[in-house]
Amino acid sequence: MKVLIVGGGGREHAIAVSMKKSAKVDKLYCVPGNAGIAQIAECEPSIGVMEFDKVVAYAKEKEVDMVFVAPDDPLVGGLVDELQAAGLRVFGPNKAAAILEGSKAFSKDLMKKYNIPTAAYETFDDPEAALAYLETAEMPIVLKADGLALGKGVLICNTLEEAKAGVKEIMMDKHFGSAGNRMVVEEFMTGREVSVLSFVDGKTIRTMTSAQDHKRAKDGDQGLNTGGMGTFSPSPFYTEEVDEFCKKYIYQATVDAMAAEGREFKGVIFFGLMLTPKGPRVLEYNARFGDPETQVVLCRMKNDLVDVVEACIDGTLDQVELEFEDNAAVCVVLASDGYPVAYEKGFEISGLENFDDKEDYYCFHAGSKFDAAGKIVTNGGRVLGITAKGENLKEARAKAYEATKWVEFSNKYMRNDIGKAIDEA
Ligand code: AMP
Ligand code: GLY
Repeated sequence: MKVLIVGGGGREHAIAVSMKKSAKVDKLYCVPGNAGIAQIAECEPSIGVMEFDKVVAYAKEKEVDMVFVAPDDPLVGGLVDELQAAGLRVFGPNKAAAILEGSKAFSKDLMKKYNIPTAAYETFDDPEAALAYLETAEMPIVLKADGLALGKGVLICNTLEEAKAGVKEIMMDKHFGSAGNRMVVEEFMTGREVSVLSFVDGKTIRTMTSAQDHKRAKDGDQGLNTGGMGTFSPSPFYTEEVDEFCKKYIYQATVDAMAAEGREFKGVIFFGLMLTPKGPRVLEYNARFGDPETQVVLCRMKNDLVDVVEACIDGTLDQVELEFEDNAAVCVVLASDGYPVAYEKGFEISGLENFDDKEDYYCFHAGSKFDAAGKIVTNGGRVLGITAKGENLKEARAKAYEATKWVEFSNKYMRNDIGKAIDEA
């Protein structure tokens, strides 16, 4: 098979590495890709993921047998529908289904209608109404821009003053653009967060092993929210009891709810869960693989990724059982200092060859490219996802941190406490 992956970050590099292992794959393509993905796939850096016409034309020109759309923006924007209309076989939810991630108001209403456990909430189109509501609301409270906002449209407000400033930021000043035309105001919850990714074929759901992200930029969960500074898998807090609860009240219920709404979901549903004192609750849904969750989950999956993806497309996932290695993985993101606000790019990355032929170590590229001289340079806020597998989380963590020393670039920044929570487990 010839497979085209749409995207160009660490998640797509991890997907490409898993696909490359498949006996079914002869050739991989990727748009736009990055310098790491280019080692195993033919990349076309000039095509952006939102340039739908160009993506479709490229897929047809290369006569690919399947397209895997990985990032949220093109999924929510309907790239899957356009590829399908052009007669291509595609993995990922169509536009009608990707709204599960594309609108927080939609997903909250869905959970309410189908009794899926989540935080209590109200939705507002009018900032004045939101301000009036907040006057008597209990603090802290959570404000969420309705639409996609690069994972940054969530504000946790401790006081009424902060909440009022938040309404201004989201709905009036439009800090997150049109994503803030609507806003969800949500009850503040406490507990451990767990990410559970799953494959869905419209009817059947198969959950993958659990993972935990570290969203804040700095050690001790301080600093701004980022796309994710590191992950570990499995989460020791995701116990069998939690799994049973989620199977009973959350996973299948979500798939069935989408089908009942006429929005059959095929692809990956990412459940962002919070393990509250009252039990697991859905924090958010994503309609795709997580980044950097994918880096620690897929490297532990025993199944051929292409088999599973094809089963989702064909509606035969009921015949597939997922299997994961009985080990652990940790991913430490090497970022550009200053991320997620302002940072410099274009610095040469050295030491990448240290990962060649090293079993259980992966250097997933997130933001890298070839410069004019053909050297690999930094090209983003998140640059590399240094990932290692070990017998257990402690070993995986030690190995991942050891491997962070193998590569160097100017302004290299990382958190030093990825996976530290496991010491408390
Ligand atoms: P989201 O993009 O919805 O996952 O939100 C980003 C982050 O904000 C989550 O990972 C949580 O840490 C936090 N968060 C979101 N909703 C809530 C909530 N209702 N209560 C507490 N924290 C929340
Ligand atoms: N790592 C969180 C996400 O992919 O949304």
